[in-house]
This record gives sequence, C-alpha cells and structure tokens, in this order.
Amino acid sequence: MNSQQTKRIAVFASGRGSNFEALHRACAQGLIHAPGREGTVPARIVMLVCDRPGAPVAEKARSLGVPVLEADPHDYPSKEEYERALLERLLPECPELVCLAGYMRIVGSVLLGAFPRRILNIHPSLLPAFPGAHAMRDALDYGVKVFGPTVHIVDATLDGGPIVAQQAFEYTLGDPDGLEALMHEAEHRLYPKAVNIMLARIAAAEEKMLAQAESERRRREELECEALLTMKMRGGRRRERPAKRKNGITNDI
Ligand code: GRF
Repeated sequence: MNSQQTKRIAVFASGRGSNFEALHRACAQGLIHAPGREGTVPARIVMLVCDRPGAPVAEKARSLGVPVLEADPHDYPSKEEYERALLERLLPECPELVCLAGYMRIVGSVLLGAFPRRILNIHPSLLPAFPGAHAMRDALDYGVKVFGPTVHIVDATLDGGPIVAQQAFEYTLGDPDGLEALMHEAEHRLYPKAVNIMLARIAAAEEKMLAQAESERRRREELECEALLTMKMRGGRRRERPAKRKNGITNDI
C-alpha cells in the first residue's frame, strides 16, 4: 500500500466496451485520480477481463495497449473455478478497484472475497428501480419519464449494493434507441466521477489505517519507555538502599 503510487484499476466487460473506453480516456486525460499525501495520484487501467472471447471490447483494449484476459466461464467446471483462474492472473497486477462495465455475469463469492467493497458496477437505471438485464426496456414499458445510470458497489445481491453515484435526465420520447444513446452519454460522464469517489474513500481509509498504526506504534514506544524508567528507578533505589552489615547494623552513619 503506497498512497503515492499510480492507482490501478481492472475493468471487466462482456460486449461493446463504450464504458471501458470512457474510463480509459478519463485516465489518459488525468480525470481519474486519488488524493495522496504529496498531491493528486493518477490512475490507470491495468487489465481488461472479458468473459466473451472475441467481444469488441477486447479488441478495443488491445488497440489501446491494455493487457487483456479473455476467459470463457464455460471452459471451467464451476463459477468458483472460473473466478479463481481470473484471480491467478489478476492479483499479480495488484488492482485496487475493479470496475464492471457491461460485464453480463453475476459476480461470485471468490471475486467478492478477493475485493471486498472494491468492485463497482454501472447499471442503466436509477436503482433500486429496474434492476436486472433489461433495465431500460423495463423502465420504458413502465412509462418512466426520468431515467439515468447508477454506479454501485457490488455485493451478493442483483444490482443491490450500496449506491455510489447517480445521474438523472428527463426523456419523454419513448424511443429505445434515443434513450440508449442518452444513457450511454450519461454513463460515460458518471463512471469516472464514481471511480474518483471510490478512490478518495480508499485513500481516506488507508490514511486512517496508517494514522492508527502510527499512534499504536507511539503508544508502544511510550509503554516501553515507561517500563524502562520504572526498571531504572527500582534498580536505582536498590543501589541507594544503605548497605547492612551481617549483624544488622548499618554502615551508613
Ligand atoms: C451499459 O449500459 C451498462 O450500464 C450496462 O451494460 C452496458 C454496457 O455498455 N451494465 P458498453 O459495453 O460499455 O458500451
């Protein structure tokens, strides 16, 4: 843990990758960063994980020089095995934050355990309204007039973890394509902001931990000092005690 090192982000995606691109662009423009002791610390995407080999997002990542890990969950006997295989490649990259960007899969206990409260997801509705895979269609069918994306922390529930950021906009035309275009624009603005909020939270938590460790270290030093002083004082008193003769008569007159 070094608060001055570049913040490392892993992105998981399954499809087109416009949110991946938006995050990558924001990093390149210096718009994603964390507070550090000596000023702002930049961030970069250290790996793209793609569960659909051949998806456009993988090609985009490669063309931007981002290492790609393509792994098809169907090649593994269980979700746990699949996620363990991802971790084997991912952990050496030391990501501090994982951003799901159109990753069409429920995250399992192995990944959740490896990155507790460090996995973000972007969802195209104002949660808790319209969770699930067809959020925009469901909202349009319902007759909703205010839409917007949500970035939330991923937990074991479906689109149910704590909300980090939302962005609402009005849309009354009822056209799915028009809505999708506006939704993506809003997502691309929102996700970098939400990542900044999380990086700031992580930095604050790390600072708190460092401060606690420092104050514990000082307290230990104080206790050691006190113990040493007490020992010296006791030793001193022993030396100061007047020597007695064997017959019990003191020499000290
Ligand atoms: C986005 O609408 C996001 O909210 C949802 O999946 C979509 C991914 O789009 N989770 P893209 O692949 O980033 O273009």
